Amino acid sequence: MNADEIKSLQEKVRALREEKNAVLLVHNYQVPEIQEIADFIGDSLELCRKAQSTDADIIVFCGVDFMAETASILNPDRKVLLPNLRACCPMAAQLPVKTLLGVKAAHPGVPVVLYVNTLAEAKAECDVTCTSANAAQMVEKLGTREVIFGPDWNLGYYVSKRVPGVSLIPAPAHGFCNTHRLFGKGEKALELKRSHPEAELLVHPECEPEFQDRADHVLSTGGMYRRCKESPAKTFIIATEIGMIDRLRREIPGKTYIPAEPNAECPTMKRITLQNTYEALRDERPVVKVPEGLRVRALKPIQRMLEMSK
Ligand code: 13P
Ligand code: SF4
Repeated sequence: MNADEIKSLQEKVRALREEKNAVLLVHNYQVPEIQEIADFIGDSLELCRKAQSTDADIIVFCGVDFMAETASILNPDRKVLLPNLRACCPMAAQLPVKTLLGVKAAHPGVPVVLYVNTLAEAKAECDVTCTSANAAQMVEKLGTREVIFGPDWNLGYYVSKRVPGVSLIPAPAHGFCNTHRLFGKGEKALELKRSHPEAELLVHPECEPEFQDRADHVLSTGGMYRRCKESPAKTFIIATEIGMIDRLRREIPGKTYIPAEPNAECPTMKRITLQNTYEALRDERPVVKVPEGLRVRALKPIQRMLEMSK
């Protein structure tokens, strides 16, 4: 699509959104042409909060499956659209509920904290959900000596370092994000840091432990955004999915953002396009809807997280 075609399609989406009282919730990793027409852009926690407080009739979720599912769990009476049902986070698929039940059975009585990057069936079996922005806070607030935690074991490492008194039991054994794995131990980022010693290195907690240890700050995507805004630094090396850089350049101009790995693209996030977003709003499908019994069970740990992280 050329620039004029993009503009014209964006206008069509805006008009339909108005007509249908819809809201466009957009994750930081989405392509620029979708970010530009968002009602709200943010990280998983910020989007959860927006999904909870919206009064729109339709939520168009430009993100991945577990995010749209969470929006639907919070909004049983609103229509939640995910423009492409193949936008599935592979990490969420790494924790089938059967695996979680096995870990729970082996550790009776131990509370379970699950990353929101999980499907509703798994969420329904946990005590509280968390995001990369509040994972350490959730584990600490439970106040127990042991916690079952998953699926992302790099996020588990991040939590362990910040809440050292708690022993985390992984579920599954070693969950990870394919996209954040591309950063490895941060060799490329360190090379960039050598040629830009004034730059701050911001790393997502889904990156490997060795890389986290080399960061100036380990942050959720929302945390990265705030840090770039508030820091006196003028240059940042950004270690997360590449879409984040588009938002930073557009919304916080006058600073320099260097991708730590230009190939770090989440293929499933990129299955959402301006074209399928338009079609989803036009046709009001595909709808994401969680069966009521499951929804009620999965709602509790999400609500608990939102309460505990106020
Ligand atoms: P954030 O909550 O930090 O945006 O992370 C979501 C995610 O899927 C990262 O890969
Ligand atoms: Fe899932 Fe990783 Fe993509 Fe985030 S970046 S949606 S964790 S695959």
